[in-house]
Formats: sequence, structure tokens, C-alpha cells
Amino acid sequence: MSSTLREAADACGLLFGSACSPDCIANEVAYRETLAREFNCLVADNCMKFDAVQPERGRFDFADADAVVAFARQHRMKMRGHTLVWHNALPDWVRKGEFSKAEALEILREHIFTVLRHFNGTAYCWDVVNEALGEEGGWREKSPWYRWIGPDYLPQVFRWAHEADPDIQLFYNDYGMELPGVKSDTCYALLRDLLADGVPIHGVGFQYHLGVENRLDREACLANLHRFHELGLDIHFTELDISIKRPITDALRQEQADEYANRLGIALASHAVSAVLLWGFTDRHTWIPEFTKGEYDEPLLFDAEYRPKLAYGAVLETLQQCGN
Ligand code: G3I
Repeated sequence: MSSTLREAADACGLLFGSACSPDCIANEVAYRETLAREFNCLVADNCMKFDAVQPERGRFDFADADAVVAFARQHRMKMRGHTLVWHNALPDWVRKGEFSKAEALEILREHIFTVLRHFNGTAYCWDVVNEALGEEGGWREKSPWYRWIGPDYLPQVFRWAHEADPDIQLFYNDYGMELPGVKSDTCYALLRDLLADGVPIHGVGFQYHLGVENRLDREACLANLHRFHELGLDIHFTELDISIKRPITDALRQEQADEYANRLGIALASHAVSAVLLWGFTDRHTWIPEFTKGEYDEPLLFDAEYRPKLAYGAVLETLQQCGN
């Protein structure tokens, strides 16, 4: 019987990974040991984003990202690339700039070609576009890329990414599409139409950032995943975490464990999901408390001292059952 998540995921042929930070890898022994022991796949939490790799126009800095790639290689882990085109995590020169459509396209073209040629396939897939849709469906109209270029930016950047590296898998990644509904429907229609136009899109990432109060209906999620898969798309759960609203009790921690098993069970039962990545693995390092102003916390599988939680046991058991 497998004794780590990594062994259990390997046994059932699933990529099971986590977001990680190069600083934590460098500075915390328990962090890097847990990461290498428990996961067969990695994504960088921030250091492959636009602001990190091109802080000034034309000056690229890959030092942190290269450190993560080296760690993944050393421990024989696959890498997801995250992310090329997003409205967030932009450097000041983009965020505070005003660009014509032609200039904005040239910025994206240069960024995509430089980044993908630098990594040269070390990340086997990339979130080419992140969160282009609004929460109520339709485009995210405040995205600078949408404002400067219009909806054409999306097919264009996928085409450039494919030209820059024809061997990698190209993903559209977003949140709030776990269940059928207006955002999921919008995304489905968009990807269906782009694929019909021959745009090189290979997969769709469902982030799965939802608190423990969101007990996801298994059949509804499966039906939703199924329709995307029928388009010929691979599916990843890209940023899974399950936060708990304060005050946090043992009963809520048990509910969290049950919901981790539920969501992972959905991924495994779908036969459409080839990778599940958590958005971090230890409650010591998570975006949740800051983002929710302290309202939610403890979203991950290990506590702040790297002790496995109930959620860890539930995930391990779910993976073990799949491998049997
Ligand atoms: O880079 C500065 C650093 O120099 C400084 O010391 C530090 C002090 O606060 O701030 C640093 O930047 C922060 C960065 O995280 C690194 O900690 C940014 O202000 C902060 O905005 C950034 O937040 C990240 C956010 O994406 C925006 O890039 C979160 O850590 C990260 O968890 C979050 O991840 C996103 C996914 O990429 C896409 N889906 C949603 C998910 C959660 O928001």
C-alpha cells in the first residue's frame, strides 16, 4: 500500500501536485522535503508570472523560475507553467501604461516567445490565458488586454504560444466554473468556438478555490467536466484549496477532509482529469487569510508545522482506492 500521496498518485496514473515558492524551497527544509516526497508535479505560485519574469520592458529575469524548474528536475516532477496572459500580476510598466492595440499585441507576442523559448518545454503545459472571463459570464472587460486589444487577443496568444513551442499543452484556466452556470457556459461556448476555428487549445484548468461550505454536487460537476472533455480538451484541477471559515473547529476540519475526498473523487471518476494541483500544501504558506482579511484559513493538507491533517488522510485514502 502506498504511503505517500506521490506513490499513491503514481499508482493511479494521476499527476498530483502543488503550487510552490522558490523562497520557501530555498529556506525551509521541511517545505522542500515534503514537496519532493508528496507530489509528482509542481507549479510556481508567482515566479513565472509576467511581473516576475519581465519586471521592466525587455528585461527578463528567470532566476526564481529557473530555481523551481531545477528543483522539479532534481526530483523528477512534471511542471505546469503559470501564467502567460493575465490581467493581474502585471509590472508597473504595463499596469500604468497606455498602449495601442498594435503595441499591446507586440508586448504579448514578445513576452510569450521569450518565456516559452527560455523554458523550452521544461514545463509540459502552460496556462496561456488566465481568468479572461467575468464572474457573470462575458469578458472581463477591465482586463487591460481586453481593453487594448478586444476579444481577439485570446485566439492570438494561443496561436503564438503554439508557434513558440509546438510540443507543449496549452490551457485556458479560470475559477468559478466548477458547476454548470453562466460562467461555465460562457467558457464552454468560447472554447467550443475557438476550437472550431482551429485555435490550438489543448486543455482547460478548473481552479477549485472554494471554501468548505461549498459541498460540490458530484453528478453536476461530472456532467460539467464531461462536456468540456467531449470538446477534446484535457482537464486539470489547477489550484485546489478548501478554506475554513473562522472559528475553526475539529468538526469543520473533518468536513474539509470529506470535501477533499469528494473533489478528488470527482476528478478520478471523470476519467477526464489528468492532473490535480493544490494551491500550496501547508497552512504555513497560503494566500487565503490575507485575501479573506482573516475570515478564512487552514485550506491545505498539512498544518503550519508540516503535520498531515485529516484532509491529508482523506486524500491519501482516495488515491489509494483508485490505485487498487
Ligand atoms: O513581490 C512582492 C514582494 O517583493 C514583497 O516582499 C511582498 C510583500 O507583500 O509582496 C510581493 O508580491 C506579492 C506576491 O503575491 C508574492 O507574495 C503580491 O503583492 C501579491 O499580490 C501576490 O499575490 C499572489 C496573487 O496570485 C497575484 O499574483 C498570490 O500569492 C497567489 O497565491 C495568487 O495566485 C492566484 C493564481 O495565480 C491565479 N488564480 C487565483 C490565485 C489566488 O489569487
